[in-house]
Amino acid sequence: MIRSVVRGYGAALPKRVMSNRELESLVDTSDEWIVQRTGIRQRYIAGEGETTASLGAAAARAALDNAGLTPDDIDLVLVATSTPDNTFPATAVDIQNRLGMTHGYAFDMQAVCTGFVYAMATADAHLRAGLAKRALVIGAETFSRILDWEDRTTCVLFGDGAGALVLEASEGEGTNADRGILAAHLRSDGSHKEKLYVDGGPSSTGTVGHLRMEGREVFKHAVGMITDVIEAAFASTGTTADDLDWLVPHQANRRIIDGSAKKLAIPLEKVVVTVDQHGNTSAASIPLALSVALADGRIKKGDLVMLEAMGGGFTWGAMLVRW
Ligand code: ACO
Repeated sequence: MIRSVVRGYGAALPKRVMSNRELESLVDTSDEWIVQRTGIRQRYIAGEGETTASLGAAAARAALDNAGLTPDDIDLVLVATSTPDNTFPATAVDIQNRLGMTHGYAFDMQAVCTGFVYAMATADAHLRAGLAKRALVIGAETFSRILDWEDRTTCVLFGDGAGALVLEASEGEGTNADRGILAAHLRSDGSHKEKLYVDGGPSSTGTVGHLRMEGREVFKHAVGMITDVIEAAFASTGTTADDLDWLVPHQANRRIIDGSAKKLAIPLEKVVVTVDQHGNTSAASIPLALSVALADGRIKKGDLVMLEAMGGGFTWGAMLVRW
């Protein structure tokens, strides 16, 4: 059977780092409150000329270099983002153009913080259906551009950045020993829309809008939803937490990450955490965290890795990958 195997990874961050201390001069907050409630110490903020497409293209180039491939080798570009450069065309076609590609096809995927898991599952389906041979799957965001910088309950949480993986269709045996994506479980429930949304859009207000969140409400649902899909991924593959080498969660809040790992009996030594450095970069957070753990040698070929995310919609999902 066809398996979608990870061939390369890359990441890109804006030049500017914003510390918690700097935020103290913008809103009534403190480094102590932010660290204690979220684990975040700093985030990167896009400057002039840095956009979702420019960061996504830089991450894509890094992933191609890491894979030893060129844009000619890619036939699908899939971008998970909620902060596109334009309402249309898709940021994915902008990135395709920046890579000098006029072949293949490109489109965006919008599932907020779960976007990267949705995009990986979609790319996997395209590769297994024979629509494409190799895909660039990119998570790229500039949430700083949709934040209300006077709202301390949200502006301290988010950051900008991009990460990318190259997926390649390869023959597998159909067992858990195969390299590649072994299982994906995606969920959504739109009845939670008001708890986490952007209060503008092309068809409602004709404006871009700002992010609004009932943080406590999101928190209340997060651990249950995350553990639900991870348990589904374990059950569908006959694996358990003991088989796992790494959990790479969406990086929203250290307390949500620790709470989910504890409920699943996954030791914290097996959990990749970058929320302290990047803040919540929504769809970019998983590929950014993967890039850190691959670059420092923690995640190795053959490792069993669980990806998970939960976010606006609500959407949530998990994916089991043999690296
Ligand atoms: N600095 C100082 N005080 C603050 C700040 C701040 N930045 N923000 C809120 N406070 C205050 C509140 O006003 C409140 O004060 P009060 O008690 O006088 O009313 C107090 O701190 C406690 O506020 P809570 O909202 O109860 O704080 P909580 O412990 O729930 O932490 C947080 C807030 C960090 C937002 C948490 O609820 C959370 O992480 N929620 C989940 C967010 C999330 O995971 N989102 C993921 C999806 S993101 C996506 O999909 C785009």
